[in-house]
Amino acid sequence: MSIVWNPNRRLINIETKNSTYQMKIDDYGNLIHTHYGGKLQDTDMSQELVYLDRGFSGNPYEVGKVDRTYSLDYLPQEYSCFGTGDYRITGLHVRNTDGSKGCSLHYKNHYINQGLYSIKGLPAIHDSSDDANYETLCVEMTDDVNNLEVTLIYSIINDLDIIGRSVKLKNSGNKALTIDKVASMNLDFTYGDWQWVRFTGRHAMERNIVRGDIYQGVQSIGSVRGTSSHHYNPFTVICEKETTENMGQCYGFSFLYSGEHITEIEKDQTGSTRILVGIHPDDFCWKLAPGDELELPQVLLSYSNEGLGTLSRNYHKVINKNIVRGKRSKERRPVLINNWEATYFDFTGDKLVEIASQAHDMGIELFVMDDGWFGKRDDDNSGLGDWYANEKKLGCSLKELGEKINAIGMDFGIWFEPEMVSEDSDLYRKHPEWAVKIPGRNPNLARNQLVLDYSNPEVCDYIIKSLSDILSSAPISYVKWDMNRSICDKYGNSLDADRQGEFSHRYILGLYKVLETLTTTFDDVLFEGCSGGGGRFDAGMMYYTPQIWLSDNTDAINRLSIQYGSSFGYPISTMGSHVSASPNHQTGRNTPFKTRTTVAMAGTFGYELDITKLSDDEKKQIKEGINLFHQYYDIIQQGDYYRLSTPEDKCTAWAMIKEDKSEALISAVYHGVEANQKPTHIRVPGLDLNSNYVVEYVGDEVACREISGAALKNGGISINPSRIEYDSYVIHLVRK
Ligand code: GLA
Repeated sequence: MSIVWNPNRRLINIETKNSTYQMKIDDYGNLIHTHYGGKLQDTDMSQELVYLDRGFSGNPYEVGKVDRTYSLDYLPQEYSCFGTGDYRITGLHVRNTDGSKGCSLHYKNHYINQGLYSIKGLPAIHDSSDDANYETLCVEMTDDVNNLEVTLIYSIINDLDIIGRSVKLKNSGNKALTIDKVASMNLDFTYGDWQWVRFTGRHAMERNIVRGDIYQGVQSIGSVRGTSSHHYNPFTVICEKETTENMGQCYGFSFLYSGEHITEIEKDQTGSTRILVGIHPDDFCWKLAPGDELELPQVLLSYSNEGLGTLSRNYHKVINKNIVRGKRSKERRPVLINNWEATYFDFTGDKLVEIASQAHDMGIELFVMDDGWFGKRDDDNSGLGDWYANEKKLGCSLKELGEKINAIGMDFGIWFEPEMVSEDSDLYRKHPEWAVKIPGRNPNLARNQLVLDYSNPEVCDYIIKSLSDILSSAPISYVKWDMNRSICDKYGNSLDADRQGEFSHRYILGLYKVLETLTTTFDDVLFEGCSGGGGRFDAGMMYYTPQIWLSDNTDAINRLSIQYGSSFGYPISTMGSHVSASPNHQTGRNTPFKTRTTVAMAGTFGYELDITKLSDDEKKQIKEGINLFHQYYDIIQQGDYYRLSTPEDKCTAWAMIKEDKSEALISAVYHGVEANQKPTHIRVPGLDLNSNYVVEYVGDEVACREISGAALKNGGISINPSRIEYDSYVIHLVRK
């Protein structure tokens, strides 16, 4: 049993394999957070709380006359409310009917269920088995004055050290309430000097790691762009200053949400730290009418006392096992070729068939037709919304094109951008009111396109119908679901004025509904997410699309840092990764073919270049690359992932190790060759310490040697130096 209730101490312990999470109902009915971290072995940590009469930290009325040391302003709380004595950042901001802003929650009840909690209309960790590994705790809190009921929900996966937290609100009173802010989780650390690791960036340069101290004051990252964004990923980490890849305490927070999010951190007057994760409040205001319920998205917490590597692997496992869904997500992912960087908008059906035919000869399995196949779409100024094939451009119907590709021996995939509309489109001419804009104002254009109002169920139904028609009309086995702008000028035509603050969240609920319907109806189709590459690369999206185009940047060397940053919260089975042309279209950099292959192989592998223009040698390298990928598929897609270098190193290295430790693949890429080079030496943990491994350089003439798992961990191996800039090595280790 993971969840243990001690009625005498009024203590709830959530036990996972390596962590204890503890909360206590105190004498005043407040739910105090007493611990999250390593195991406690049955100690009530509330005994270690220090109560002091702190100036300017007031006391709840029922306590203040007898005890001035008790204050909600410094006590660690399981969930915090604005306006009633806690002056830190707080999770719940409620406006009452009389206009006052304040709320105060007390413990009412709790219950424990087998299995994981599913959230209506939102992604959540799932598992159909009734394994004891999965349990749910629901703690019911209530505000006796406005009759707001708040349920704190904890979904536990014991063996992965995962706690999925979410919150549910219910207005049990007879007056409407306005929710200005509702975090999905609140976590207070009474002690500790923590650092915050977050993943920031921009379009085509996503998820650069930033690690810094937490100081007294408030720090935050988030998005009000309608998407989780390229700029601030909704996965972050708190760790000790000393924490490294392989040692030290750390905590992860992965928000299963693809819309506007915020992570806020405050270190307060006493040195304690509060973390809140939830929907961004700047763009959120929800009217909770009497009887209404509102369920908020889930945050996955994980704890590791063995460093960041173990923490990441917890997330890799939970995403692969308990987040991605559908039969295609569990099946072998095909090696694909996408025509975007090969042709952009300039193609004919014949050109596509030619690419597909040559691709098939090289061993590629799936041909993906990108943007430009529908409506009037020869550049990015028109056509979005008109989801019917441009038969003139293709020279045939979509069905016929799909059949031609199938006849070559390849699967056929297709690109959509279903959340958008161009002003120059039949859909916009018919339904201008479906585009998001504020009445009386001209909306911002981005890529000369507007956003469809997914907060309107009529729009969602239309999209479901038009995409279903296309998917049923042709032999389509893969969909790339794109979304190429940030959202602003938010206003929902179908919403009353007092519900406009609900637009952004309702947009995401609409999106999830459309995705749920399409992915379950067309469960033979593999869906890949995309938002100008990695603008919506989050665990919420992975619930619907098991792989996501990682970045519009296909430069292998830039990809090293994008893949590095992304690997902290996400497994490589989710990272769309392609070999593209050299010089690269985004950076102009020349990189050896071998290195482009090595880098792309750390993801869902594919190609995105005009293969009809390649030399025989390059074509040979494609064949060899695909053979290699097939040969090591299980290690790559299902192995344990280890980061072996830091962003400062001039050789980026990583390893994938089979779960049974019988085999591993190490990849190393040089980017900063110097004269008279120092040797590159890396230590590889995670192997069988009592066995020897044969070290083989794949495709390179370097003599095999033997090394023990213990030596790999404690001594390490030297990687052959190279005098070629951007050279790379793939090293295969096999247990003897
Ligand atoms: C986005 C995607 C690209 C490509 C283009 C097409 O930028 O990330 O891969 O599909 O749209 O317009």
